[in-house]
Amino acid sequence: MKKSLTLSLLLGVSLLAADYSGVIEVPDASKIIEKDLLAPVGIYKMPKGCITDDPKAIARGSFMFHNLNGENAKGEAPEGLKKVDAHGKNKQYGNCVACHNIEGAIGGGNIGPDLTAYNDVYVKSGIRDHQFVYQKTADPRVDNPNTNMTVNLTTKLFNEREICDITSYILSPK
Ligand code: HEC
Repeated sequence: MKKSLTLSLLLGVSLLAADYSGVIEVPDASKIIEKDLLAPVGIYKMPKGCITDDPKAIARGSFMFHNLNGENAKGEAPEGLKKVDAHGKNKQYGNCVACHNIEGAIGGGNIGPDLTAYNDVYVKSGIRDHQFVYQKTADPRVDNPNTNMTVNLTTKLFNEREICDITSYILSPK
């Protein structure tokens, strides 16, 4: 009894006295932060045939514009769009309505400009072109490094085709 007590005390002391610096990981915080930082601004050229009046593409664009993710989206996802991603996880959409008003928006936000009648107001007037809308949706930092808008293509939140669907939706007559 006495012996085992002495032993456990000895073990305790040696555990306390041991040098664990080689065992305990001391991560380099700057490396961790670097990983979380966004990649530099991506400049993207709109692929050929990107803007379309295909109602299916526009329906997908609209769904991604008006919903946060597959789980909270009401109704069936339109043809060609899934509510789960390739790993079976809840697919993230744009939730663009959180910041932008547009035709049919329920509680559209006003952090970003109102995108209602976009084609008439911005494109036909010559202020913007299709490439601008594509790039802005893909990586909005291009003309505003301090933008509050989400970065969608550089972060791979969306792929090229999805950016085209959303862009086609914004430009479509509604
Ligand atoms: C957190 C807020 C926020 C979200 C979410 C957001 N935006 Fe924006 N958006 C902005 C702001 C703010 C601007 C104004 C310019 C800037 O600061 O970059 C803008 C500008 C734009 C413009 C340019 C309008 C113009 O011609 O001047 C387009 C197009 C656009 N957003 C599309 C989208 C799309 C598509 C989504 C969803 C994928 C989206 N935005 C999500 C905040 C947001």
